Amino acid sequence: MSNLPERIADVEDADCTGMQALVTGSTSGIGRHAALALGRLGADVIVHGRDRQAGEAVVDELTALGVEGRFVEADFADTDSVWELAATVRAETESLDILANNAGGFFRNNRLTGLGVEYTFHVNHLSPYLLTAELLDHLAADARVITTASAAHKGASLDLDRVSEADSGMGAYSHSKLANILFSTELARRLDAAGEDVTANSFHPGAIPGSGFSRFLPGPLPDLFAKLDAVPGVTSVEDGAAALVNLAVSPRLDGTSGRYFSGQDVTTPSSAARNRDGAKRLWERSAEWLDVEEPLSGY
Ligand SMILES: NC(=O)c1ccc[n+]([C@@H]2O[C@H](COP(=O)([O-])OP(=O)(O)OC[C@H]3O[C@@H](n4cnc5c(N)ncnc54)[C@H](OP(=O)(O)O)[C@@H]3O)[C@@H](O)[C@H]2O)c1
Repeated sequence: MSNLPERIADVEDADCTGMQALVTGSTSGIGRHAALALGRLGADVIVHGRDRQAGEAVVDELTALGVEGRFVEADFADTDSVWELAATVRAETESLDILANNAGGFFRNNRLTGLGVEYTFHVNHLSPYLLTAELLDHLAADARVITTASAAHKGASLDLDRVSEADSGMGAYSHSKLANILFSTELARRLDAAGEDVTANSFHPGAIPGSGFSRFLPGPLPDLFAKLDAVPGVTSVEDGAAALVNLAVSPRLDGTSGRYFSGQDVTTPSSAARNRDGAKRLWERSAEWLDVEEPLSGY
């Protein structure tokens, strides 16, 4: 099959035997295809999401490939759930080689979470921040942290006050995806300053109507999106997953950190996404919202 993500990413010769990967949001879409690609390359994969049935189905596929798969359920709108996910990963792996912060989406939940934070921001940014913070000292020396962002970040400027107001629009989504890029580059900067070899990069997977992403769009849009999947030239789920797999395993990217990719190409994100002061403020406020010690503080 020519549309396997690892083939698209030209990493099908990579040997990931013995590597441990956590791919959040791998019950469907980009994450599911990336998890299976990593499994075909030999990695053991922790599959995550809320849908247990879908997660167990991915685990069955991983088992059939001859690698270890395990499903861990966690709701990213619930902080305790993320703590438990981190604790399970720590208990069941020696260390993590690949942490793919991929779970997320466009939601119509016009509400605040238990932290008093806007839902999309909590799910798409605060939970991956917390998960990464909790797993930092569980990462292998040369681990890679990958965050699935979006070109939709270009519509946003950082406004930390908006996070305390319920919102269900595209603005909330764009803002959360801007946060993904700022988080990833700040993580990369602090890791480097701390002398760590762990790398962190974020990426836009493409506009992918074939994933589950469109399920919460209003009116007839989900059906329209599903039809778009058949139109030539539209980004396939496999292409989106290939971008993730490339960042996770490509030897060409050894040592590459703090970059933003569109598909498999390094590109420049918006000026708001390159704002160093914004990244620092977001990092510090995120720890405050979550009531945790600032990770990699002092850098
Ligand atoms: N598709 C696109 O056009 C596109 C474009 C740019 C960026 N992205 C990004 O790509 C990533 C993956 O999305 P996708 O397109 O593959 O869509 P998808 O098929 O809907 O996958 C989303 C994944 O995130 C998980 N998830 C959603 N809400 C969650 C929550 N509250 N707690 C825990 N897990 C949750 C879902 O698992 P459960 O349903 O099992 O909870 C699912 O596995 C997202 O970060 C999205 O923003 C997508």
